Amino acid sequence: MTESLTVRDNRTGQEYEVPIVDGTIKAADLGKITAGEDAPGLAVYDPGFVNTASCRSAVTFIDGEKGVLEYRGYPIEQLAEKSSFLEVAYLLIHGSLPTKAEYETWVHEITYHTFVHENIKEFMQGFRYDAHPMGMLMASVGALSTFYPDARHISEADNRHIQMVRMIAKMPTLGAWSFRHAQGKPFVYPDNDLSYTANFLSMLFKMSESKYEADERLVKALDVLFILHADHEQNCSTNAVRSVGSSQVDPYSAVAAGVGALYGPLHGGANEAVLRMLRRIGSVENIPSFIEGVKAGNERLMGFGHRVYKNFDPRATIIKKACDDVFEVTGVNPLLKIAQELERIALEDEYFVKRKLYPNVDFYSGLIYEAFQFPPEMFTVLFAIGRTPGWLAQWNELVQDKEQKIARPKQIYTGDRGLTFVPASERWS
Ligand code: CMC
Repeated sequence: MTESLTVRDNRTGQEYEVPIVDGTIKAADLGKITAGEDAPGLAVYDPGFVNTASCRSAVTFIDGEKGVLEYRGYPIEQLAEKSSFLEVAYLLIHGSLPTKAEYETWVHEITYHTFVHENIKEFMQGFRYDAHPMGMLMASVGALSTFYPDARHISEADNRHIQMVRMIAKMPTLGAWSFRHAQGKPFVYPDNDLSYTANFLSMLFKMSESKYEADERLVKALDVLFILHADHEQNCSTNAVRSVGSSQVDPYSAVAAGVGALYGPLHGGANEAVLRMLRRIGSVENIPSFIEGVKAGNERLMGFGHRVYKNFDPRATIIKKACDDVFEVTGVNPLLKIAQELERIALEDEYFVKRKLYPNVDFYSGLIYEAFQFPPEMFTVLFAIGRTPGWLAQWNELVQDKEQKIARPKQIYTGDRGLTFVPASERWS
């Protein structure tokens, strides 16, 4: 079988042979196809990069039809059950699992860097009382670039390493302080005797007790949620990190762009919408009429369907299990009953079956977060903390990839041309 594409340009009658490599053609090869000597080359129009590969990546594999998600080749189910968030972070960034010594050094490094400069604290205290925690997180991650100006030396591997360690370490501190600020509570400093996730919970919820130690089952459940969110190949925020990073800016600025992308409701905000929907449905008896409304096209069943997963979202299955563990400690969220019944009915309904609509990661995650007593604005902050190693692994891959260039898409220009400018003094006289 010849690995190439023959293209006939009907404008000129000319034929072109375009090589196919890894199931793709190079957009630059299409640029060689022109309608005449001075005419522009053929380009691809693809808003939202729906069918355009922007990079080669060895970080995360997804097979949407089969419901497969793997980090560096390891199935998400195994990592969620048997690994820890920091080990997964190491795996994503370094490409292989750590030895015992490597893991201990990694955990020590991350733990050692959890504190932030006092000026960051003061900077965060300067936000308005009702500042959205995600806006605070985005600004404070960006601000870190001014505290570590050496971070711009991105071609040095050791330098990249220390910045990645700092960012993974400081994200929970910044996230927890964004939460405390909205509540008017004093910021809690990191407790480095605790694990990564237990320390995060301490910074969130500690009050006057000398030590805050969360229930181990809650620590484990949140650690699993972080693992599930750690990477998801070229999604909107990862693409933002790569696009901004392609200018060779420091990683704090690139990750701040990722936080900004995640802030948007089409990306990080769906679980909040699920909670609102469940609350609106209100009781199990109202489900059939709600489903009828969805089928009539009045609204969507939030937390169902996915652009990539067309069979099931493997993260949703794991989250359902985490739900049980969390509710064992916190008591059952009354919305769970509505969610379960909604899922049962939808999975049997021809409308959803035909369109391959299944629960996605967001269907149950909001219920868990609410059980932790997080307000909805915090849900995306939790997502950002989990996604940080993924953003960094992708950024680290990008800066070492010789094929990468500064991101600079083409456009199809639709505006005016060649107008003659008349100065305001003449136009308005
Ligand atoms: N409820 C009802 N109908 C739906 C839904 C839904 N949640 N999702 C898709 N459909 C229907 C849609 O109306 C269309 O039907 P028809 O063919 O009759 O016009 C068909 O299914 C295909 O939908 P689509 O909009 O072309 O699918 P998409 O791949 O562009 O959209 C999606 C994917 C996730 C945006 C969409 O399923 C959706 O809006 N879901 C609800 C929001 C949600 O839960 N988002 C979280 C996604 S997971 C987060 C992550 O991975 O980061």
